[in-house]
Amino acid sequence: MTSGKRGTTRTPPHLVWPGMGVAEPAARGFGSAADLYEARRPSYPDDAVAWLVTGLQLGRSSRVVDLGAGTGKLTRQLVTTTPQVVAVEPLAAMCEQFGQVLDVPVLRGIAEALPIRAGCVDAVLVAQAFHWFDPDRALTEIHRVLRPGGGLGLIWNMRDERQDWVASFGEIRRRYGDIRYDSGRWRDALAASPLLQPLVEQRFSHQQALDSEGVVESMASRSVIAALDADENRTVREEVRQLLASHPETMNRDVLVVPYRTHVYWTTKVTVGL
Ligand SMILES: C[S@@+](CC[C@H](N)C(=O)[O-])C[C@H]1O[C@@H](n2cnc3c(N)ncnc32)[C@H](O)[C@@H]1O
Repeated sequence: MTSGKRGTTRTPPHLVWPGMGVAEPAARGFGSAADLYEARRPSYPDDAVAWLVTGLQLGRSSRVVDLGAGTGKLTRQLVTTTPQVVAVEPLAAMCEQFGQVLDVPVLRGIAEALPIRAGCVDAVLVAQAFHWFDPDRALTEIHRVLRPGGGLGLIWNMRDERQDWVASFGEIRRRYGDIRYDSGRWRDALAASPLLQPLVEQRFSHQQALDSEGVVESMASRSVIAALDADENRTVREEVRQLLASHPETMNRDVLVVPYRTHVYWTTKVTVGL
């Protein structure tokens, strides 16, 4: 039994506060497709990661949290410049994949109840995940764990739909649910928050080379698709196969280059009284 009080239990926080867990379909989708996620989702552009590290003034002695770390795609890019990184990730399946590729501490926890002491972190970085959080609760927690002057960095790879086949791929994906990043809810919460300075932002180009089955599996690694039942999942995969086999930009190609625009943001903690 747990007391349910913050700081008095060793039970992972997402089991303690009902309603404060990982949102569906992230829990179901990422929980069942962590291996596909690791195999088929892109890294982040090196210049985008360097821009974040420079903007947040991070270095070898900085204490950094990679929040919603998943299989560690950002973490592995961070460790070379900021080796004192700790990952926070709620889902066991993602943590297991993480442990297979990285020797970095992973804490089980959620953004809305960080398993970290107050004021001891130089930066919290969040890759492809902030849109899943309850933004107000997460920002309160991020503000709590940051030292005075500490910062928050956010990064997302977004498909560049200026290419027709990529737009068609996106249409298939959107038939199964809206893209949460696009709602802008996460951004509204940041803009309204008195806890953090206005965002500084930059965009970068990125790309990922995959064979056509890799593109099919990258669709299957999206949480809303991974959360579908087996029949629906097969249907989506078949739709993508047909698109790739029939579209003039993709048919008969051994390698497909998926273009991305990487959206990157940083901000710093507002500290009243300093
Ligand atoms: C799209 S994945 C991104 C993983 C990794 N950061 C990356 O760049 O590949 C989203 C991650 O956010 C995590 N997540 C979802 N809701 C969360 C929450 N409330 N607190 C912390 N992590 C959460 C999921 O478990 C998942 O690992």
